[in-house]
Amino acid sequence: MEIQRTKIVDIFDPALVGKKVCVKGWVRTRRGNKHVQFVALNDGSTINNIQIVIDLEKFGDEELKPITTGASLHVEGLLVESQGKGQNVEIQAESIEIYGTADPAEYPLQKKGHTFEFLREKAHLRMRTNTFGAVMRIRHHLAFAIHKYFNDHGFFYLNTPLITESDAEGAGDMFQVTTLDLDNLPKTDDGKVDYSQDFFGKHTSLTVSGQLEGELGATALGAIYTFGPTFRAEQSNTPRHLAEFWMIEPEIAFLQLDGLMALEEDFIKYCVKYALDHCADDLAFLNKMIDNSLIERLEGVLKEEFVHLPYTEGVKILEEAQQKGHKFEFPVSWGTDLASEHERYLVEEHFKKPVIMINYPKDIKAFYMKQNDDGKTMQGTDVLFPQIGEIIGGSVREENYDKLMAEINRRHMGIKSLWWYLETRKFGTVPHAGFGLGFERLVLFVTGMQNIRDVIPFPRTPNNAEF
Ligand code: 4AD
Ligand code: MG
Repeated sequence: MEIQRTKIVDIFDPALVGKKVCVKGWVRTRRGNKHVQFVALNDGSTINNIQIVIDLEKFGDEELKPITTGASLHVEGLLVESQGKGQNVEIQAESIEIYGTADPAEYPLQKKGHTFEFLREKAHLRMRTNTFGAVMRIRHHLAFAIHKYFNDHGFFYLNTPLITESDAEGAGDMFQVTTLDLDNLPKTDDGKVDYSQDFFGKHTSLTVSGQLEGELGATALGAIYTFGPTFRAEQSNTPRHLAEFWMIEPEIAFLQLDGLMALEEDFIKYCVKYALDHCADDLAFLNKMIDNSLIERLEGVLKEEFVHLPYTEGVKILEEAQQKGHKFEFPVSWGTDLASEHERYLVEEHFKKPVIMINYPKDIKAFYMKQNDDGKTMQGTDVLFPQIGEIIGGSVREENYDKLMAEINRRHMGIKSLWWYLETRKFGTVPHAGFGLGFERLVLFVTGMQNIRDVIPFPRTPNNAEF
C-alpha cells in the first residue's frame, strides 16, 4: 500500500528521521557511480531538493535508465541523516515508480544554466527551474501579504470591472473589446462603425485602472482595495512594462496627503518585511545567484524613512546634476514628465533611499488629482524605488465638483461616460485619496530580477501572447 506523501518542504523535519517516507516530484539532477546513484528531487514546494540515494544492488540499470533530468517520480524509502555535505537528510530508496520520462535529447531544461531570454521561450516549463520556482513562490506570498495587510487594516476587497466604457484617466492606449465581425463591420449612415450593434451596444475596452469604480466603493464602504488584471496597449518594450499586469488600488475616504504618504510607505514596507519573513530560502537563493545586494537592499528599505520631495525641488536637483555634466537621455526642466532614468538618479544617486514625489505639474497628471492653490500643481504622490523607478502612482482626489469640472473642461474631455463618477462629487462628496501599486514592479523589486517579463508566469508584451 502506498504511504502518505510528504511534501519536500516538510521532509527536513528531524522527527521524520528513521521513518519510511514517500515523496513525489521531478528529477533535477542525477549523478553517481557503479555502486550508488544520487537523484536530486524537487516538487516545487520549496527551493530545496531532497536527495534520493539509490543502491545499485537493489535496482537494475535498465530500470533506472529513464531517471533523467525532468522525469517525474514517486519514491518511497527510509529517511536518514545524510553522509554527504550540503544536505542534512536523504532518502534511501526502496521503491521507485516513474510517472513520466523526459527524453534528454528533447527536454530543454538540462542541467546547465540557461539565459532568461531562452527560458522566456520555454515559459511552459521555466517554473521548473530554481529561479522561476523561487520567483513564483515569492509572488504568491506577496499577493497573500497584500490581502492580509488590507484585511487587517479594515479595507474591503472590491472587484471592479475589466470591461469598461470609459478610458479611466487616459493612462494608456486601450485594448478594444468587440464581438463585431471585423471583416464585415456594420456602419452608420455617416460611414462610422455602428457600435450600437456591438455586444454591449457601445464601444468598450479592457480597463487601464479600477480607480474610478474604486472611488465609488470608498465613498460608500470607507476604505476599499482592488487587486486585479490591468491592460495597457502601449508600445513600450521596456523591462518595466507589460501589456497585461496586476494592479492593487486602495482608495480611502477622509484621507489627505500626509495620511496617503504614510499609508504608501507603511504598506510597501509591510510587503517587503513579509517577504523577508516568509521567503527566506528563496530570497537567499536569489541573493546568491541573481543579485548579491538583494537582501541588503530589502532590509535597507525597511530602515529608511522615505523622502517627501516636491516635484519642483526634484527637478532642481536634476537640473543641477545636468549642469554638473550628468548625461540624461531625456533632458529635464519644470513641466517634464520624469523618465525612469531621472527617478532612479534621485533615488539611487542623490538621496540613496526611496522617494515619494509630490505636487506634480497639472499637465503631466490625471484630471482627477486634487488641485493645489498655486494653480499649477496637483497632489500626486509617486513612490520611487531603487532599481525600479516608479513603483506606486497615487494622489489625493479633487473632491470639489466645480474644480473637477473646470479641469475636465480645460482638457476638453468627453464626460458622457463619466456621469456616474461625477455624482460622487455631487452627493456627499468627501476628501479622499488612493494609489495604485504595480504588482509586478513590487515582485521585481523583491526578487532582484531585472526584467518584468520574468516575474509573471506568462508575460503579455507587444508581439507576444504565447502560452
Ligand atoms: O501610475 P498609474 O498609471 O496610476 C493609476 O493607474 C492610478 N489609477 C492609480 C491610483 O491612483 N489608483 O499606475 C499605477 C502603477 C504604476 O506606478 C506602476 O507600478 C504600475 O501601476 N504600472 C505598470 N506596471 C507594469 N506594466 C505597465 N505597463 C504599467 N503601467 C503602470
Ligand atoms: Mg504613474
